[in-house]
Amino acid sequence: MVSLKINGKNHDFNGDEEMPLLWYLREEINLSGAKFGCGIGSCGACTVNIDGQAVRSCIISVKDAEDANITTIEGLEKENNLHPVQRAWIDEDVAQCGYCQSGQIMATVAFLNDHPNPTDQDINENISNLCRCATYSRIRKAIHKSAEYMAEEKS
Ligand code: FES
Ligand code: FES
Repeated sequence: MVSLKINGKNHDFNGDEEMPLLWYLREEINLSGAKFGCGIGSCGACTVNIDGQAVRSCIISVKDAEDANITTIEGLEKENNLHPVQRAWIDEDVAQCGYCQSGQIMATVAFLNDHPNPTDQDINENISNLCRCATYSRIRKAIHKSAEYMAEEKS
């Protein structure tokens, strides 16, 4: 049995321990915010946060995620308040088709933990999620706005 902690809730799983975490999230507990894109760790559509780090959930097994704190896009909102990164994404109207966006947001949340006041170069070097709709300029603006909103929340 594998014990998983997802968005603050404990889940016990008796199935295949080598199942990719993305499959578990989407098929076993109906958290479908993380998306399947490439399945080989390249695109970032499946990004979740594990112990504060951005992780591509298509290439980590449930066993390897055992006992860690896993956060998905569904767990970002707190007490009916959107996370500052979600607010910035809405304000900048980032999404086009939207398919990649939960991964972009989860990558940004983890990135801003380590880069609270990022430069464009920091963004280029650290956010490698792909967007087939090429919303990259809006993503960049939203990352800067997210940093502002997070700084406001801390002050
Ligand atoms: S689906 Fe996981 S990185 Fe593309
Ligand atoms: S918004 Fe369509 S893939 Fe990114």
